[in-house]
Amino acid sequence: MRMRKKAWARPELAECPYFIEEPQALKGKWQEWFPRRGPFHVELGCGKGVFTAEIVRRNPAINYLGIDLSMDVLGSARRNIEQACGEEGRMADNIALTAFDIERVTEILEEKDQVERLYINFCNPWPKGKHHKKRLTHTRQLEKYQTFLQDGGEIWFKTDNTDLYLATQRYLTETGFEILSQTNDLYAQGDPENIVTEHELMFAGQGIPIKRIIARWNRRK
Ligand SMILES: C[S@@+](CC[C@H](N)C(=O)[O-])C[C@H]1O[C@@H](n2cnc3c(N)ncnc32)[C@H](O)[C@@H]1O
Repeated sequence: MRMRKKAWARPELAECPYFIEEPQALKGKWQEWFPRRGPFHVELGCGKGVFTAEIVRRNPAINYLGIDLSMDVLGSARRNIEQACGEEGRMADNIALTAFDIERVTEILEEKDQVERLYINFCNPWPKGKHHKKRLTHTRQLEKYQTFLQDGGEIWFKTDNTDLYLATQRYLTETGFEILSQTNDLYAQGDPENIVTEHELMFAGQGIPIKRIIARWNRRK
């Protein structure tokens, strides 16, 4: 789905105290950037931030970083976050947003950043074999995430796409992640804590089962 250009997105992000223009400068320092120390969770491909805003609202003691390539969707994410935190009567002080290519994520995150959880929601399935390496859950990417996930850190992955779901189980196992839970129909299984993303809303509305995998990275000593 192509996003229409939003003339207001860049100016609003330029004024936003939690939009990070140079995330490379914070590599290894994310824990100090937030006003309060806390668990650090990162969302890859946060899009318009419907999920981001809700998780930030629900968990003020957890610090979040939302990453996306597109300034236009990040502009919408900022507005959604402002609204959610405004409704709680507080500042959005447990979130950072940045525009960055996740294929180069090791330029902005490292082990010292102690990432406790990674969310990957409805990433592009890249269906053609020659493009599989671009999948955000491909082994090539998972090996990058292992450099900054803390011991026992988790990946929470959701998709509508059966091929990507099955391949991701394989990618996770091949790279030594421990699969803690998996379902090919999250709504049939039920999870009252599930936070719906904008793409999830669309796919679930079309009757497409939502798949989810939760996996843990145990660092070898
Ligand atoms: C299909 S949307 C999903 C958005 C949201 N997570 C959801 O579930 O509704 C995928 C998002 O990932 C972003 N994205 C895709 N590849 C990326 C990359 N290599 N680096 C950063 N963002 C990327 C896109 O810009 C888009 O906003």
